[in-house]
Amino acid sequence: MRALAIRPGTPGVLLVERPEPAVRRPDEVKVQVLAVGICGTDREEVAGGRARAPDDQAELVIGHEMLGQVVEAGSDVRGLKVGDLAVFTVRRGCGEDLSCLLGRPDMCRTGRYRERGIWGLDGFQAEYVVDRQAYAVRVPPELAEIGVLVEPLSVAEKAIDEAVRVQMARLPEAGAAPAWLAGCRCLVVGLGPIGLLGAVALRLRGAEVCGLDVVDPDTPRAAWLSALGGSYIDGRKVPPDRVPETVGTFDLIFEAAGVAALDFDLLQALAPSGVLVLTGIPGGDRPLEVPGEALARRLVLGNLLVFGSVNAARDHYRLAVDDLGRAVCRWGKEFIGRLITHRYPVEAAPEAFGRHPPEEIKAVVEWGAWP
Ligand code: BGC
Repeated sequence: MRALAIRPGTPGVLLVERPEPAVRRPDEVKVQVLAVGICGTDREEVAGGRARAPDDQAELVIGHEMLGQVVEAGSDVRGLKVGDLAVFTVRRGCGEDLSCLLGRPDMCRTGRYRERGIWGLDGFQAEYVVDRQAYAVRVPPELAEIGVLVEPLSVAEKAIDEAVRVQMARLPEAGAAPAWLAGCRCLVVGLGPIGLLGAVALRLRGAEVCGLDVVDPDTPRAAWLSALGGSYIDGRKVPPDRVPETVGTFDLIFEAAGVAALDFDLLQALAPSGVLVLTGIPGGDRPLEVPGEALARRLVLGNLLVFGSVNAARDHYRLAVDDLGRAVCRWGKEFIGRLITHRYPVEAAPEAFGRHPPEEIKAVVEWGAWP
C-alpha cells in the first residue's frame, strides 16, 4: 500500500510502498483511511524538526489527524463494525506510569510514551491502518465530511475541560454556578484550526469569545470566527499588553499560537483569578527575555493560573465527536466544513506539506472517498 513517510531530522516527505497491515489480535480493528489532516506538527516534522522513527526503522510514516472506515474487526471488538467511520487516537502509553495504565497516556509522567505519526510509531498517512479498539472512537456517518477535525478538536476539548475543572475547584462562586463557562469572557489566541475549534467548544458552552490573530478581519479565519459569534481582535493593531485597556480582561485565555513571547504577554490580559491555558508548541529554542519579577508579582497578586495542555484522552475525542454534532446542528455542516479549505489527492501531498497559503485553515490529504 502507499504511505507518506519522512526520514526524521531531514527535510522532505516521500510517497513510499509499505506492506498492508493485517488484524492479528481479536481486539484489533482495520481501517481504510479516508482523510488525514496536516497540522503544524506535521509541517515541523517534514521540515526536519521534532519527529522520531520506530526503533527498528529509518523512516516514519507521518500523520496523526485521521478519519477512516472500518473494513475488518477482530472477534472481540464490540461497538464498532465493518462500514462504521472511526478515528484512532494518537498517543500510546509507556506501560509503566499509572496514568498510562489507567488509559490516560496524554498525562504520561515518564515521557516514554509514543505517538502515532510523530514519535516512535508509524502514523496514519497510509491507505490502511490497524490498531486496538481501545484506541478507536466511532464517528457517526453524518459527520463524514468533517470527521477529520475530531483530533484537533480533542486537543482543544482537553485544554478547556481542564481549565474549567481547575477553576471549579478554586473559585468560590463556581459551586453556585456549575456552568462556569456560560457568560465567561474568553480570549482565543491564534486562529488556526485548534484555536477556531476551541472557539466552537467555548461558544457551545455559552462563553463570550474574542479571538486574536494577526490577519485582516475579512480573511477566512477571522471571518469564520465572526460568523461563529466571536469578536475578532487584530493583534497588529492591539498588541497583547494593550488588550485590557482596549477590550477588557478575560476569565479564560486559550492559547493556540505557539509563540513563546506572546505567552508571557498574555498574562496582562487575564482578569483576577483568571486562567491561561497554553496548547501551542513553540518550534524554536531562541532565548527569551521576560520581566520575571513583574510577572511573578502579577501571578501572585492576581491569583492567576497558567498551565500547559497536550494531546487528549479518548474521552476528549468522544466529547469532540459530540461537539462536532452539536456544532453542525447550531451552525450547519456547510459552515463547519468551511474550516477544511484545502483537500489534496495523495499524489499532490508531498508538495502540500511545503505550501501554507494564507487562506488555508485546515488542509487534508484524501486517501479514499466516503461512499
Ligand atoms: C498533536 C498531539 C501531540 C502533540 C505533541 C500535536 O500536534 O495533535 O496529539 O501530542 O502534537 O507531539
